[in-house]
Order: sequence, then structure tokens, then C-alpha cells
Amino acid sequence: MTTSYEEVFRASTEDPEGFWLAAAGAIDWDVAPTRALDDSRAPFYHWYPDGRLNVCHNALDRHVDAGRGDQPALVHDSPVTGTTRTYTYAELRDEVARFAGVLAGLGVGRGDRVVIYMPMVPEAAIAMLACARIGAVHSVVFGGFAANELAVRIDDAAPKVVVSASCGIEGSRVMRYKPLLDRAVELAAHKPEKCVVLQRPQYEGELGPRDVDWAAAVRDAEPVPCVPVAATDPLYVLYTSGTTGRPKGVVRDSGGYAVALRWSMEAVYDIGPGEVMFTASDVGWVVGHSYIVYGPLLAGATTVLYEGKPVGTPDAGQFWRVAAEYGVKTLFTAPTAFRAIKKADPEGEFTKGYDLSGLKYLFLAGERLDPETYHWASDLLGIPVLDHWWQTETGWPIVANPAGIELAPVRPGSPTWPLPGWDVQVLDPSGKPVPAGEDGAIVVKLPMPPGALPTLWNDDDRFVASYLSAYDGYYLTGDGGHVDEDGYVFVMGRTDDVINVAGHRLSTGGMEEVLASHPDVAECAVIGVADSLKGQIPRGFVVLKAGAERAESEVEAELVQLVRDRIGAVASLKDVAVVAALPKTRSGKILRRTMRGIADGRDEPVPSTVDDVTVLDALRPVLTGRKDAKDGTDAKDGSHSQDGTHSQDEKEAKGAQG
Ligand code: COA
Ligand code: AMP
Repeated sequence: MTTSYEEVFRASTEDPEGFWLAAAGAIDWDVAPTRALDDSRAPFYHWYPDGRLNVCHNALDRHVDAGRGDQPALVHDSPVTGTTRTYTYAELRDEVARFAGVLAGLGVGRGDRVVIYMPMVPEAAIAMLACARIGAVHSVVFGGFAANELAVRIDDAAPKVVVSASCGIEGSRVMRYKPLLDRAVELAAHKPEKCVVLQRPQYEGELGPRDVDWAAAVRDAEPVPCVPVAATDPLYVLYTSGTTGRPKGVVRDSGGYAVALRWSMEAVYDIGPGEVMFTASDVGWVVGHSYIVYGPLLAGATTVLYEGKPVGTPDAGQFWRVAAEYGVKTLFTAPTAFRAIKKADPEGEFTKGYDLSGLKYLFLAGERLDPETYHWASDLLGIPVLDHWWQTETGWPIVANPAGIELAPVRPGSPTWPLPGWDVQVLDPSGKPVPAGEDGAIVVKLPMPPGALPTLWNDDDRFVASYLSAYDGYYLTGDGGHVDEDGYVFVMGRTDDVINVAGHRLSTGGMEEVLASHPDVAECAVIGVADSLKGQIPRGFVVLKAGAERAESEVEAELVQLVRDRIGAVASLKDVAVVAALPKTRSGKILRRTMRGIADGRDEPVPSTVDDVTVLDALRPVLTGRKDAKDGTDAKDGSHSQDGTHSQDEKEAKGAQG
């Protein structure tokens, strides 16, 4: 593109209707939209209300029809199984059409839900695209979640069919998914009619009467064509952590999402047809939905679906190997992955064996890119290292350095500028914009651009209460930070009980619910503290009920296991301490923010609202004494503290402090 960022941004604000209708021209419509935004039901906004399309057609068939059927669409690279497989656009289209035939044969039709619980295998993407092909709504559940979390999502989405695999592979461990699936179906009140199971050679699951073998079903199935749907029809529901244990079902529409992703591929990631993007994340997260599966395929690019870790599978050179082997132009992952690589290979020795001349950009998101990791990655690779900020809710970046339009000078610690369509503002608690450089709540003025969530699944009220009620006319991002004099946005951390652990979004409130369910626990608090590898990790503090006679260490171990069993290993709660009391305000709110500050080694002021300062003093050594579980360094050394986090109760304490 030859236009500047400023011109493009201005066009999107001066004439949003014209801007987004023009962007819609990059999509193949069955019925082209005549309008972009429908605001007649505000604050519920809908994009392209009279458009009809099929997202799978745009991701696959369209490219085959255009004569690019032999181009690689998806590369599965799996160091953990020692296999690689490349699907051309024609092959992927055929596999998807056939699996769509399997789903249709099981009675799945437009609007029906399909839950997908799979590791990083190509069949996960095939299942997603097959749903899109027949107008069904997929809901992918991250494989690191336990049976209980899967059951909660099955109950909320009420799927006709669940698609899963017998196992995943985590490093050298085989994780058995099938028993977890069986347990989840047992726990859920809603029973799916069928479960399609992909049997993998590392562990074959036992199939019951509800189960269908993937390979056998595909063998017998007829391919089916794309079904055009309304642009406003849901493409998927993706559950994400909120402030409680009940996840939020973020709804993604079809038309707005397709337009936004297609636009972002060139404007943000500078990826066009035939170019290669490697997004090292997981299909269970929004990053995987948008930039492993839909974005690259909508753009006619090649996507790499990598089944492995940045380190240890088998070494810290795997990202470089993949980049060199497939000619990756844009690499996208979370900062934590780079911290892991840096720890294993501080001098970047592993890059030396690979030709990285084709690698043009490194994009990072999922958590704040700390300046230290930024400098290390840029010095090592000598290419633009670009932080960008977004959320499950928004579907694509809100703030980024738009490489495909104009590369802005990087300011370490900032993801750069708001992208077209995003009117980002920073407000104080009364709703007034704060001066440049001052911290506040980061909000987006409504309406948000195409691709952002139109609502929560089956819960318009929660959508309004969670996101739209704090500031009238604005979407509350849940992040705090500031904008500097030159418009650079700095995102400093969550203002609620959400934490980011190794780029995985988790709820401390959800973990507290699990701890509180233990019969010996009277009360508890879970806080996210700075961690030199994972950015943040959770720590739990519990007060036992009077008369509880069990050894403290025994209860602590049980609580760690309970969170692992109920939420999943991904919660990474490995440190729970029994304490005599929790520090509170006079109105009885636990001082989590103060606890966090002390745990992170900051000189945290004692709130004037504290009820009993001796309780806080007694807790100090427990808070500060922790050793980093993995590398033995003191948590205080972690340079990735994301200040600005304070839950509702802390806000009260802070406010009272004046
Ligand atoms: N299925 C089953 N278990 C899983 C899983 C999955 N898909 N993903 C993670 N887990 C398990 C892990 O095995 C680990 O279990 P353990 O406690 O028994 O060791 C636990 O969940 C925590 O996983 P994780 O937080 O990923 O820690 P890790 O030590 O295994 O790896 C990193 C650390 C930094 C290497 C890893 O988190 C990583 O590569 N992150 C990249 C960031 C990313 O993908 N972010 C997504 C959004 S962009
Ligand atoms: P998720 O919905 O899992 O993508 O997590 C979204 C949250 O991750 C955001 O609300 C932020 O708290 C955090 N996050 C994502 N990207 C960034 C970034 N570039 N800088 C700071 N925080 C980020």
C-alpha cells in the first residue's frame, strides 16, 4: 500500500460506512452487502446486515476456483510426532468438504453447535472449516482445560456433536483426551448426540455407543458444498475467562469477521496470497482462530500449524527451523515463547543453522511485550519486532504497528497506534478522558469495527453488564494504561480479575471458586504475580476453617490438585499457602492489589482503609519469600510486572484512600 497510516485511519473515521463497504469488496459474497453498519438495535451493532456469504468458500474454494488449488494452504509441522504434512488448497478443500459431509450426515445443520476439543492437528482446522461450510457454529475448547471446564462449555453451547481426538502430545507426554471427553459428557447436563473421535497412534481411545471414528466416517462420507449464510450469522463461539468461574461465550459473526481479518492480513501483517504466516499459538485461543486458521486462508496465504513448544521439542531452534523450512515471512507468537527461547538459548546460537532471510516480521501479542524481551528479539533477528494488543472479544488487533500500511517507529512497551475502526480512549473513573500520559481505563467508543463481538452467546444482558455498562457509549476492554502525546498506546495490565499466564487468559476468580469449594477452606484469595518466564503466575492463599485438623501441607497439595482437576494444568497454580488471615478493608474486601504489589516486590502503600494492619504485616514474609518455581530466581527480579491491576474490591479500597 502506498497510503500512510494517517490517511487510512482518517478515512475510517470520516466515512466508516464507505471504508468498511470498500473493505468488503475483498470478500466473495453470495449476496453483496449494500450497507456496512446496522445500528438500529444499538448497543447491539451488526455489520453487513443484508450480505450473504460462506466463510469456508472464501477460505478455500475461492482460491481453488481462481486456479491456485496446487498452492500450499496448510502445513502441519509436528516435532512431537516427527511428522509433517502439507495440504494444498485443493486437498484442504476436499478434506473439509468431506468432513462437512460427516457432520451433515450426523444431522448437523445451519446454526447447530459443534464443540471441538482437539490438539494441534490439521483435523482441528478441518473441523472448524467444515462447520463454517455448512453454517454450523463451532466452539473450540483449548486442550489444556480439564473435563469440568469442557463440561461447562458443552452445557452452555449445547452442541449436537463434539469433535475430539484420542490424545494430544505435550512435550514427551501423551495427554489422553478421550477419557477427559467421556468424563465431560458424563458431567454435562446437555448430552451431545455424537462424538467424532480422531484416533492417533500414540494412544487409541475406547469408543462407546455415542462415538464415531473419524477415519471410518470420512471414508464413507460424501463431500458437501458451501451453504451461504447471513453475514450476521454466528461463525463461532469462543469461551474466554471473565472475572468468575463462568466463562463468557464470545460470539463471532461471519461477514464482519471475514472482512476484518482479510483486511488485517495485508494492512497489519503484510501477508498476501502465496506468502507464509507462522502463528505459534493454539487453535483453542482467539489467536489460533484468527491467524492460524481463518486469516491466512482468507488471504490465500500458507499457514503453519505447529504441534510443539518453542523449547524442548526438542530444542530452542524449532521456530527458526520452521521459519527457514517453509519460507515464513511473518511469525506471530506470545512474548512468553520468546522468553522461553531466550532462557534456553540466551545467545541465540540456534538461529545460526538456519536461513532466516525470508523472515520479515515478528509479531507478538497475548500479554504485554516487556522491553527486555523486545530488545533481545530485535537484536537477535534484526527485523521489526512488533507488539500488538487485542482480545478474544475483538477478534483482531485493536492497536498495532500496521506493517502493511506504514511501519511506525517502535516505542518499546507500546503496541503502537489504534488501527482503523478503533476509537481508543482512556477514561478516569468518572468517565472523563485523562490527559496524555496519564493512566486510566482503556475503552473503545461504540460502535466497534467489523469482527468485534456482537454479543455473548445466549446472554445479551451479561454482554451489556460486562462490557457496556461502566461507561455509556463505550466498550470496556478490561485493560488499563495510557496514550502518550504522539498517540502511542501503552497497555499496562488488566483492571479486573483476569490474569495472563504464559499468554493464556485465566480467571483468578474462577480459581478462587475452586479453592473455596474445598471443605476445609474458610476463605481464600488468588492473585497473579510477576513471573520471569510466564509473565504472570497465580498464587493462592487460604484460611482454614476453625477446627480443620489436617496438616497444612496436605491441604495445600490437595488444593493445587483440585485446581488442576477442575480447571486444568493450564491454570499453572502450583503455589497455595495456608495463612492465618487475609488482609481486608474495614468493609471486608480482601486487599488483593496490595498483596500483589508486595509479592511483586514493590513498595506498596498500606491503604488507609485497612482493617487490621497486623494481618498484612504477618503476610508479608509469605508474599515476598516465594522462589520462582521453575528457575529458582526470586520473583522480585521479574521485570514483567504489569501494574495497574486491581479488582472491584481493590478499587473501593483505592478510592477510599483518596
Ligand atoms: N493439552 C494438555 N495440556 C496442556 C496443553 C494442551 N493443549 N497446553 C498446556 N498444557 C499443560 C502443560 O503441559 C503444562 O502442564 P504441567 O503443569 O503438567 O507441566 C501446563 O498445561 C501449563 O502449560 P504452559 O503454561 O503452556 O507451560 P509450559 O511450561 O508447558 O510451557 C511455554 C511454557 C512458555 C513454553 C508455553 O506456555 C508456550 O509456548 N507459550 C506460547 C504462548 C502461547 O501459545 N500463547 C497462546 C496465546 S498467543
Ligand atoms: P485474550 O482474550 O486471551 O487474547 O487475552 C486478552 C488480554 O491479553 C488483553 O485484555 C490484555 O490484558 C492481554 N494482552 C493481549 N495482548 C497484549 C499486549 N500486546 N499488551 C498488553 N496486554 C495484552
